Amino acid sequence: MTYVIYCLVFIFYCIGVVHPINEKCSSDNDCSKDKSFCIDDVCQCDRLSIYSKNIKQCWNYATEYAADCFEPEQCTEFLGEHGNCINNKCLCDDGYKWLGGSCISYVGKNESCSENVSCLDANDPLALTCIDGVCQCRAGYYDRGMDCRIQSEYQKECAINKDCFPTSNSVYSYCKLGKCTKDSTFKSDIEENVTISNSLLYFNEDNTDDCSQGILSNFTKEDCSKCSKHLYFRDSICICRPGYFLQDGECIPELGMSDSYKHYTEDSDCPIKPSKLSNGICYCKNYWFQHYTNRECKKTTLQYTYNCMDNDWCKAMGPYAYCDSNTKQCKCIDQAVLNSDTFLCEIPGERNLTGICLEDTDCSLYQKCLNQECQCENEFSQMDNTCLPKIGGSCEIFNCSHIENAECISNQTCQCKSSAYVTDGYRCLEKSTHLNDECSIEEQCQDIPHSSCISSSNGSSYCTCQNNYLDKNGTCYLKREYKSQCASRLDCTILLGDSFVCRNSLCQCPVYYTYKDDVCVRSSSSKILALYFMLWALVFVILM
Ligand SMILES: *[C@@H]1O[C@H](CO)[C@@H](O)[C@H](O)[C@H]1NC(C)=O
Ligand SMILES: *[C@@H]1O[C@H](CO)[C@@H](O)[C@H](O)[C@H]1NC(C)=O
Ligand SMILES: *[C@@H]1O[C@H](CO)[C@@H](O)[C@H](O)[C@H]1NC(C)=O
Ligand SMILES: *[C@@H]1O[C@H](CO)[C@@H](O)[C@H](O)[C@H]1NC(C)=O
Ligand SMILES: *[C@@H]1O[C@H](CO)[C@@H](O)[C@H](O)[C@H]1NC(C)=O
Ligand SMILES: *[C@@H]1O[C@H](CO)[C@@H](O)[C@H](O)[C@H]1NC(C)=O
Ligand SMILES: *[C@@H]1O[C@H](CO)[C@@H](O)[C@H](O)[C@H]1NC(C)=O
Ligand SMILES: *[C@@H]1O[C@H](CO)[C@@H](O)[C@H](O)[C@H]1NC(C)=O
Ligand SMILES: *[C@@H]1O[C@H](CO)[C@@H](O)[C@H](O)[C@H]1NC(C)=O
Repeated sequence: MTYVIYCLVFIFYCIGVVHPINEKCSSDNDCSKDKSFCIDDVCQCDRLSIYSKNIKQCWNYATEYAADCFEPEQCTEFLGEHGNCINNKCLCDDGYKWLGGSCISYVGKNESCSENVSCLDANDPLALTCIDGVCQCRAGYYDRGMDCRIQSEYQKECAINKDCFPTSNSVYSYCKLGKCTKDSTFKSDIEENVTISNSLLYFNEDNTDDCSQGILSNFTKEDCSKCSKHLYFRDSICICRPGYFLQDGECIPELGMSDSYKHYTEDSDCPIKPSKLSNGICYCKNYWFQHYTNRECKKTTLQYTYNCMDNDWCKAMGPYAYCDSNTKQCKCIDQAVLNSDTFLCEIPGERNLTGICLEDTDCSLYQKCLNQECQCENEFSQMDNTCLPKIGGSCEIFNCSHIENAECISNQTCQCKSSAYVTDGYRCLEKSTHLNDECSIEEQCQDIPHSSCISSSNGSSYCTCQNNYLDKNGTCYLKREYKSQCASRLDCTILLGDSFVCRNSLCQCPVYYTYKDDVCVRSSSSKILALYFMLWALVFVILM
């Protein structure tokens, strides 16, 4: 009855299967538009999601640090009260840092600290300590001004020259290729490629945690609560507890978090590489940087090379450095200058960071910080200030309607509607079927052998035979000339004409024929006879 009245009032809801939140429904299908579910005959978000006014759909509560978000409420469930949605990522509020499974209040170098406010350098959580109420360098670290770095010595590892301390006053050492070296003529025995993969290695223990078996999301509430690293989230689903993250089906502790199940005794026990153990807790190996997610150790650039793969490497030059993506070299941002003594990028005078980014967390959804600018990630492209999916990109949040002939398929990626279409990543266009069909992208000509999408003199582009191929009867054939190589007679006749044959693997005239004016003509018999007699005359002369 109510449904009928409902239909009378909102006719289009009954004919189109498009029901927004809070409206009547008969199945989840009716609610798919805003990713809600049909619960008690009404479209609503389930226990694991929350309605976002920003994107007009239900969106999941974060179940890990740095998850995508639109509303702060999506973050606070997992991150706690100091969690927030910043630039579409669940991060901690200003003045708080994610460590050990919560957003902890912290202060930086030179600031005043107490038992309630810890000293922290997010790139190296071991660097600072609270001495006399002020954050200072921990023992074994030296003061570089802006930060504290591990002190090294002759023949030990380093990243910048200042890391190397002389063993005696008479020895000057500097950092060459990751090792403190005496002088420029010193031959370093350290290999240039100290590549250690970031892949996760597991050590085998006889008593495997029962909790690491099976698919986490299938755990019952009882199974889940038995496991020390797990959490039964919103009374609905088993996830990794804050401070742990899911990797290959197992919950592993983030950097700076102690493992509640396994006791680590060596650096190699750490699941994240390359790391070192300190008081049974894993941190990144000396001079490597802890990624903001606490799930990865990032390599450092060297003062000797300036090499980098991404911005994180350049943190050796302080916060005002970035990795130039063209040269793969660390540089100071435009307003900063390099202090050659400390290897720090310093901003003389007032800093103004408007319009530039220093880290990926400065950028919004589906963006990364590249060359001081927020740019769309590879599978997305910029449209009206938003990064929308290209073909192959995720349509979890944005649908694919901005690409004609594309749709959001079941694995949540944008794909062309059928195999009749081809794509350059940005568009879905029909495949060309005939030579000289108009085209816009190279991919359209892929079914026509030896053709390419080539622009013609009148401005349009067509599927045209490639260089060295000629269009004959709608097909591209390899160009042949008189005496070109051939495999069959057709090779020769198709372009040169029926008078040619393939003889000794060359396009030439049949015997008794000669090449004349681009065709093969029969040699006149008189000429052959004359030749015959001349030959005999020659033989006769020689024999005499
Ligand atoms: C630390 O916090 C506790 C409880 O919030 C408070 O009682 C204590 O005074 C604080 N200590 C300092 C040094 O602020
Ligand atoms: C801390 O103080 C030292 C010495 O006064 C100064 O060189 C350095 O720049 C300060 N560091 C920060 C992060 O302000
Ligand atoms: C570095 O690694 C690359 C690829 O593995 C190798 O080709 C190159 O020779 C190595 N360079 C040195 C100095 O070992
Ligand atoms: C997990 O649960 C789903 C749905 O209940 C079921 O289809 C699947 O087989 C389960 N997987 C395992 C490994 O138990
Ligand atoms: C900072 O830089 C931006 C853009 O370069 C400029 O528009 C703005 O006025 C500057 N702000 C200050 C305080 O100088
Ligand atoms: C796709 O997204 C656009 C913009 O958000 C929206 O107007 C449109 O209704 C959506 N289409 C579908 C089929 O959900
Ligand atoms: C999604 O499915 C398409 C088509 O089946 C496939 O080409 C693509 O690789 C899949 N993408 C992902 C991320 O699984
Ligand atoms: C452009 O030239 C091609 C031949 O090169 C012709 O087939 C086509 O009709 C022309 N198009 C326009 C718009 O003039
Ligand atoms: C040219 O094409 C037509 C139609 O596709 C075909 O019937 C004919 O046999 C072709 N001629 C040659 C010489 O291939």
